Amino acid sequence: MTEQQHYGRLIGASLGPGDPELITRRAWAALQSGARWLYPVKKAEESSYALAIVERGGIAVPADAVELVFPMTRDAELLAKAWARAATQTVELLASGRDLVFLVEGDASTFATFGHLARVVRELAPEVEVETIPGVSSFAAAAATTGVTLAEEDETFAIIPAAYGVEVINHLLDEFDTLALLKVKPLLDEVIDLLERRELLATSVFIEKVGSPEERIVRDVVSLKGEKVNYLSLLLVQNPKRVRGELRRGCRKRQVAVTA
Ligand SMILES: C[S@@+](CC[C@H](N)C(=O)[O-])C[C@H]1O[C@@H](n2cnc3c(N)ncnc32)[C@H](O)[C@@H]1O
Repeated sequence: MTEQQHYGRLIGASLGPGDPELITRRAWAALQSGARWLYPVKKAEESSYALAIVERGGIAVPADAVELVFPMTRDAELLAKAWARAATQTVELLASGRDLVFLVEGDASTFATFGHLARVVRELAPEVEVETIPGVSSFAAAAATTGVTLAEEDETFAIIPAAYGVEVINHLLDEFDTLALLKVKPLLDEVIDLLERRELLATSVFIEKVGSPEERIVRDVVSLKGEKVNYLSLLLVQNPKRVRGELRRGCRKRQVAVTA
């Protein structure tokens, strides 16, 4: 009779977007639980933004922490190979029975590598237990730092990668009171032109590496035209001129009739 393989748990620990004060108590505990650390890098032996957040928080990186390489490329073949390698490596480490904590910048459920990694790992080893520790996302921290309210009362709010292009963004500006445009770097000039045409520059703000020592806030968004900004940057755009449709009030508490 073959003994059943016992795998460690795979924990995705959200670390917030840069300020270690925004690491939740649960993620902090996971980091110090004895679980082996896994952290993402774009190239082998390159620095890891997620790892740097923890180091700034004062926890030394364990000697047996393992880096996983996720290259920033559109080459489908290269990407598929890298993902397969990362998932296989993760399953091999989990097979020792020890838990793994995967360090995630921002929130682990928002455009993060963790979701995909966990899915591929579960395809290879369905018995692996996965835990996701939620955290502060880049746009939530950016809103707080810049004093932007993402949504109030009946307002609408959307988070999208800017790569959908200015036509889609233009359309969404009519549908949402606030947009968080992530991964804005390659399209920044085009988006700025659109904001200029829509007269929304005054209600837009650009934030780079929020919460980190290199944080940069630019309210004069036009001044960024032609600049090569960091990948870790986003735009918060508010459209105070948006025309709203009618709302159904049915689910609100009925007002008690006042009798004379
Ligand atoms: C792969 S997504 C990661 C999102 C992240 N998991 C989160 O919860 O915000 C990368 C994009 O998120 C945004 N981003 C992530 N971290 C950021 C930071 N510290 N400052 C500004 N934008 C950030 C940028 O738009 C960047 O291109």
